Amino acid sequence: MADIDRILAAAPVIPVLVIDRVEDALPIARALVEGGLPVLEVTMRTPAALDAIRAMKEVEGAIVGAGTVLNPKQFDQAVEAGSEFIVSPGLTETLGRAVQDAPVPLLPGVATAGDIMRALDLGFTRLKFFPAMSSGGIPALKGFSAVFGGVRFCPTGGITLETAPDWLALKAVACVGGSWMVPAGSVDPDAIRERARKAAALRPSA
Ligand code: 3PG
Repeated sequence: MADIDRILAAAPVIPVLVIDRVEDALPIARALVEGGLPVLEVTMRTPAALDAIRAMKEVEGAIVGAGTVLNPKQFDQAVEAGSEFIVSPGLTETLGRAVQDAPVPLLPGVATAGDIMRALDLGFTRLKFFPAMSSGGIPALKGFSAVFGGVRFCPTGGITLETAPDWLALKAVACVGGSWMVPAGSVDPDAIRERARKAAALRPSA
């Protein structure tokens, strides 16, 4: 199984991408990687997602994964398309058990202490804290990390370039996720590259 820690350590920020038009995939991926963000999460929220993953894998240095994966079928489709990691917004027992021997790692979403306990039961210690801001923000994460010592998080949901440093300063935070680098609408590679550069310059605490 590929090492989820290696992926979470590859950049301080994982751009969360909603790709509507497959022809946007390459210019978006190139701009993000050139800007210093190699880890790309393509959400399975659009019909273009799987083709976007295939296209983005052509970009040298890109580590392409799938997000918003809800069940084992979508997990398999995303792996088949070449995803190197998978992210889910929450964790069901069905998904957690189905991926135990999968060739790529799952970063499951959690929002409560009970979610984290279920994730630990299923063997997951690297978790997406989602939706981070509306689930209690930094005070909630501090509470979780006091209790669940070995767990590291990728908080996502409502995080911005301005607030990311506060999250990244926490020891339990490996990196953060966010959509701010690639806003919806027409693709502007220069603007994406510039936002990626600023995000890539942020540093996690350890
Ligand atoms: C996700 O799927 O992780 C979120 O949609 C990203 O959250 P954000 O848009 O608030 O950054």
